Amino acid sequence: MKRRTFLKGSASVLAASIGHSVLATESARDIRASSGTAQIAPAGYPQTEVWAYNGQVPGATLRFRQGDWLEARLINDLQEDTTLHWHGLRLPNDMDGVPGMTQEAVAPGASFDYRFQMRDAGTFWYHPHQNSVEQISRGLAGVIIVDEDKQPDIDGEETLVLQDWRMTEEAQIHPSFGNRHDMSHAGRLGNYISVNGGADVIGSYPKGARVRLRLVNTATAKIIQLALQGWRAWVVAVDGMPLGVPYETETVEVGPAQRVDLIADVMAEDGEEALIGSVERGGTFVLASFAVTSGSAARPAPQPLPPNDMPSPDLTTARTVPLVMEGGAMRGLPNGATWQGEKMDARALAEAGQFWAFNAVAGMTDAPLVDASLGETIRIPMQNKTAFPHAMHLHGMHFREVMQDGSLGPWRDTLVVHGDQTREIVFVADNPGDWMFHCHMASHQMSGMMNWIRVEAT
Ligand code: C2O
Ligand code: CU
Repeated sequence: MKRRTFLKGSASVLAASIGHSVLATESARDIRASSGTAQIAPAGYPQTEVWAYNGQVPGATLRFRQGDWLEARLINDLQEDTTLHWHGLRLPNDMDGVPGMTQEAVAPGASFDYRFQMRDAGTFWYHPHQNSVEQISRGLAGVIIVDEDKQPDIDGEETLVLQDWRMTEEAQIHPSFGNRHDMSHAGRLGNYISVNGGADVIGSYPKGARVRLRLVNTATAKIIQLALQGWRAWVVAVDGMPLGVPYETETVEVGPAQRVDLIADVMAEDGEEALIGSVERGGTFVLASFAVTSGSAARPAPQPLPPNDMPSPDLTTARTVPLVMEGGAMRGLPNGATWQGEKMDARALAEAGQFWAFNAVAGMTDAPLVDASLGETIRIPMQNKTAFPHAMHLHGMHFREVMQDGSLGPWRDTLVVHGDQTREIVFVADNPGDWMFHCHMASHQMSGMMNWIRVEAT
């Protein structure tokens, strides 16, 4: 599937197919998961058979004010179990949507009611937490926006939902789910990135306009590299959480499940375009283009967004629980790794579809990685001894990275740890319950990279 690249190529005349709409915030809503069809590939290609929420890919953007309640009934019209997980939201444990841990899986024909309060402002998303590689890759994902009480001073907003598809030449989803190569390598990498369910987003802004860009990567494997042209942009939030000090950038890396919020001023001249593209091997491909009309002069750098109410991790009293990540192609699993309580050699584990281990255990453990008392501060140095990057995600609480010099990075819920890297995180265990801690590269998650953390109620 061809897109035009940065700098060359003629202007595309594709109509923008913005696959999301904004629903009212006050009423309960039904979110029906079912199969359907959608025009995901560029015009000229056939429609794609997808799995969708209320027939839309991505699902409707759910928009709230901070403090609002989300009330949603998941109705499962798929042929298999599913759930809804509200990625990055700090919510009560029984609303977290993890089958077999926080709720029963929702069987075909059944439903489940979710209800919780929107504690944090920011950009979040929802997706199934069952058979995730397939369910997310077939289209089940949507964005949640929680508006700040005091809104930033902007002239426009664009939410770009990036979905990574492995498509056949007929624009159908390649049925290669659960293959061992994907599981033991970089996961199910696609060959086509859609934006808001279509080929690209097209719009127009006057020069000098200040636009909030909400970038959401729903891919189950791909780390998406974005480049901006014709903008002056600052990162103001990551994974929904505002940065204390926005920083200027021309490129943005968004790992699987991560979000990046930018405040971006249109700098291109009247008659030019402001572009957002994905940087790939063959070039930088346009995902969003905005025709620029005459406008105003540049503005000073943006103010930080108002912070969410986050706890303060105290490194000096923190308990350290190391995590060692092993396995995958090239390196393999350590000898004597266990799965479901049994020591097995790597060949037997591969037979069982297990290619990765945390602390020499593949898959879920009976005992949590950490059993934390309420309010305890936990540090987890994550040593990646594999040859692949992993997007480590903690449910229920956000963490900060402990940098080499001891300073703390931004609040995040997902951190990419590259091969042979060690990255340390710290969090305050202030949300009681059992929380998943796993690689968000869903092929890795289902083939070993899963664990959990218990936060006691007292
Ligand atoms: Cu996006 Cu276990 O989650
Ligand atoms: Cu991984």
